[in-house]
Amino acid sequence: MNPHPLASDDVRPDPHVIVIFGGTGDLAHRKIFPGLFHLYLANLLPERFRIIGVVRPPAKGSNDDFRARVRDAIVEFGDAKPDGEEWEAFIAAVSAVAADATHPATLMDAVESAERELGEGARRLYHLAVPPDATLQLITMLGTTGLNANARVICEKPFGTDLASAKVLNETIRANFDETQVFRIDHFLGKESIDNILALRFANRLFEPLWNRDHICFVQIDVPESLTVAGRGAFYEETGAFRDMVVSHLFQVMGYLAMEQPTSFDAGPLRDEIHKVFQTMRPLDVDNVVRGQYQGYRDEPGVAPDSTVETFVALRVEIENTRWKGVPFYLRTGKGMAQRRQVITIGFEEPVMRLFPLAKDAQTWRGNRLVVDFDDPGSIHAHFLAKEPGPVMQLGEATMSFYYKDSFRHAHRLEAYEHLILEAMLGNRALFTRSDGIERLWEVAAPLLEVAPEVEFYAQGSWGPTSMERIVAPHGWCLP
Ligand code: BG6
Repeated sequence: MNPHPLASDDVRPDPHVIVIFGGTGDLAHRKIFPGLFHLYLANLLPERFRIIGVVRPPAKGSNDDFRARVRDAIVEFGDAKPDGEEWEAFIAAVSAVAADATHPATLMDAVESAERELGEGARRLYHLAVPPDATLQLITMLGTTGLNANARVICEKPFGTDLASAKVLNETIRANFDETQVFRIDHFLGKESIDNILALRFANRLFEPLWNRDHICFVQIDVPESLTVAGRGAFYEETGAFRDMVVSHLFQVMGYLAMEQPTSFDAGPLRDEIHKVFQTMRPLDVDNVVRGQYQGYRDEPGVAPDSTVETFVALRVEIENTRWKGVPFYLRTGKGMAQRRQVITIGFEEPVMRLFPLAKDAQTWRGNRLVVDFDDPGSIHAHFLAKEPGPVMQLGEATMSFYYKDSFRHAHRLEAYEHLILEAMLGNRALFTRSDGIERLWEVAAPLLEVAPEVEFYAQGSWGPTSMERIVAPHGWCLP
């Protein structure tokens, strides 16, 4: 079996011209620029690189203004201070250009001149941190201008809003890029703890033999968020929690949890196995979906006063294969909830012979579960039953825990976006989603998109509408 690509020390990419479309946007400020600076400090950017931030005309692409904005973004959202010699060297490689799909000339000049400066062998990396309609136009522009040559392109979600629109997007991409050039980013797949699911399962005989319907009674992927849609009302009206979080992130995490062992961790075999999970998912049953909306959502700027968009969704998903038939996968996420958490819980069946008396109403899985907390910095907890000290055989819940922050690799940690931008520069598509997988997920989602259940209201700071309990019966939600 091939080792994981990051097992190698040789992770320095070829020289690159990195072009960020949406250079003054929220994503560029929160994630991309702080991430690029951290990669630079970690010696993981190419030895020779240029970064071009694209701003939409008529805004002027003044380098000084742009660099000042990048600096402010790193102060606000980055871990490392933008000071000193290293900062000066990094920011000197950053410039801005005003261009868009209909005015590409300035960008073409900028890319060419950056390539001349870098010399032979420079690659192009485009990061499309822009809304969906702009993505389509930019992809076409990159194709028709020839800027697609020797290039890789990172595309941001949403990858369509249903099967038909996903197909249009994929066809546009295919008409302008070879699939090997395309990196559809789902930043949950760049999180250390999600990558670690592969290690947890396939490097440890302690877990993998139990990882099936004979031993597991349910799987929960629970991602409550305490933040509201704050400032993103208009975006949320177009997407809602199901498209924003479930299709993009939670289904992908489910793919990692449910897949068979790939023959290697290369993009081909790894993504084939994830795809097989998506193929064996049953189309969603709307009776197993609860949609919620937090009270006050309709007062957010950009939100319709009678909006029926969901800010919360809980659902039960079934995978029809030999490993998982009959094991429910419970997924939940929402905005304005009681806590921010990102938790996977694997609930185990009770032993075949029950030798120990159970307290009335006790749920055996509570004392017998594996919990992966995948919000950074991440941790893993095995909850099991142990004998409480004393003369009688009485059981109590005990826990074995692993914390990334205390682990030997923690200092090498890359934030999800950093990890994925690096992988894209290295040309490794293993941690990126695939067009056929995305189309399959929209197919699975079709019943819900056609006839969505009514939204139910929930108070901000709560765990969601009360009817979500029926989704997880008889098990119950593991949080809080
Ligand atoms: C984004 C969603 O993709 O992921 C947001 O659009 C969500 O709505 C965010 O809040 C969660 O990501 P993170 O980095 O906080 O795990």
